[in-house]
Amino acid sequence: MLHMENVTVTFQDGQDRITALDNANFEARPGQLTFIVGESGSGKSTLLSAAAGLITPDSGSVLLDATEVNDHVRLDKIGMIFQQANLIAALNVRDQLLITDHMRGITPRKDRADELLAQVGLEGLGDRKMQQLSGGQRQRVGIARALMGEPSLILADEPTAALDSQRSASIVELLRNLVQDNGIACGFVTHDRSLISDADAVWEVHDGQVSPAREWRRELAPVAR
Ligand SMILES: Nc1ncnc2c1ncn2[C@@H]1O[C@H](COP(=O)(O)OP(=O)(O)O)[C@@H](O)[C@H]1O
Ligand SMILES: [Mg+2]
Repeated sequence: MLHMENVTVTFQDGQDRITALDNANFEARPGQLTFIVGESGSGKSTLLSAAAGLITPDSGSVLLDATEVNDHVRLDKIGMIFQQANLIAALNVRDQLLITDHMRGITPRKDRADELLAQVGLEGLGDRKMQQLSGGQRQRVGIARALMGEPSLILADEPTAALDSQRSASIVELLRNLVQDNGIACGFVTHDRSLISDADAVWEVHDGQVSPAREWRRELAPVAR
């Protein structure tokens, strides 16, 4: 479980200081897809970066399974997924996954990589070059890569922003099943509110303020009688 408490992050901007996160509280529970919505510049990416230990807050605590997040915890327990998948063009599909084993200093697990590729619907495509994949398939590679280290937390920053609505929905569905089946917590940033109608939890970010949304189910998906 990810638990963030009273997290404040500021950035120097010329003469001024921007408060990107203002005393933010946030949590993401195992087995649940937790969406984070808010307009551009509201602080969503900053929230994920702080959750991942990529930036150190001015104050507050970031705990993953009751341990303060740092570089070691990130490598060990956190999988990250980005809008553009951040894949390396020169590597084939399987190597995108194996590189994370190299980063961890362990022997590359080819069988695990191929198994994860099959789980995300890319069975048999391990030897493909990245440019031979569609945008949706690349995002699936990004998801499989995030799973390589058996994470307890996945952080996804607008992973569907470059995809059409049908492919976006199928990426959400895939992530939902993976986090449910493996008991992984998942923070999923999106500005596409159509994705969140049947979310487990939704949080809103507005001007650095983070709060749980209470009514998203009723607003977006009226219950049929
Ligand atoms: N590295 C940085 N240096 C200076 N300002 C930043 C930096 N990262 C983000 N900001 C500012 O912090 C605010 C929140 O940014 P961000 O978290 O990227 O928003 P979002 O992801 O919701 O679009 C914005 O005003 C942005 O300009
Ligand atoms: Mg962002």
